[in-house]
Amino acid sequence: MTDTVLYELDGHVATITYNRPEALNAVNGELRADLNAAFARFRDEEDAWVAIVTGAGRAFCAGGDVRGGGGDPVGEFPGTFWEKPTTNSFESGWEIYKPVIAAVNGYCLGYGLTLVTWCDFVIASERAEFGFPEVRLGIPTIVGAIRLPQRVSWQHAMDLLLTGDRIDAHKAKEIGLAGWVVPHDDLMDEARALADRLLQGAPLAQRAMKEVAMRSQHLSTVDAIRFGETMRKVAHATEDAAEGARAAAERRAPEWRGR
Ligand code: COA
Repeated sequence: MTDTVLYELDGHVATITYNRPEALNAVNGELRADLNAAFARFRDEEDAWVAIVTGAGRAFCAGGDVRGGGGDPVGEFPGTFWEKPTTNSFESGWEIYKPVIAAVNGYCLGYGLTLVTWCDFVIASERAEFGFPEVRLGIPTIVGAIRLPQRVSWQHAMDLLLTGDRIDAHKAKEIGLAGWVVPHDDLMDEARALADRLLQGAPLAQRAMKEVAMRSQHLSTVDAIRFGETMRKVAHATEDAAEGARAAAERRAPEWRGR
């Protein structure tokens, strides 16, 4: 990893920071490699239970690097089209079942907005602006077009996707893209407060629920319930489930271990 994305673990909270502020955190090949490494580390690191993703400087992420140079923003993969993985980043659908909070501090465009559509919570600074400018560059956003209608109503999704217009934080909240709008200087404290609230819940039970919530979107009700009930048995067998029962009986706060 170079330093175009920072990863910091504080307790059980990982903060992932786009760190190319001179280019408004635009995604070039180097940043792509660092961003993928940061999300892979978060996914794999047992002590990391919740992530906050944010940007250094005045942007969250201004999308793919339009200046060229600095490598392919998608990432470099060997093989012809057929061998290349298309699910090759958090933005393109890596399965991460730990909760992810977006703390959107400024421009959140293109790739940046695609990433946000995979986040479980979106807290917007009053300075945040959201948009998919791709159409004005003559190109489509594909994963954005798949994800945005799953997050907001059809016509609000089509408005953003087909016009390329940017919306401010309040409009983002109005259409349900952002959950909260907060004063800029409070953004990271608010994100941390939400992360701390999430740490009250047992991490493996959270991951079981997030996986059930994600997978059940594409399953029949019967299949979703069968899958979910299987996950219930798996989650019940964890040490944390036993700790939860013990703590309730002893009338004390549980101590989660993520096991
Ligand atoms: N790729 C590469 N560099 C970018 C960039 C991008 N997507 N977005 C911004 N930058 C760079 C600018 O070139 C500029 O660099 P410089 O200071 O060396 O000239 C710097 O970041 C600041 O950008 P600037 O345009 O001066 O800031 P602004 O406040 O006037 O405008 C935006 C901000 C986001 C509206 C404008 O930068 C923009 O439209 N960026 C492109 C967004 C885009 O099309 N993304 C691609 C999606 S696929």
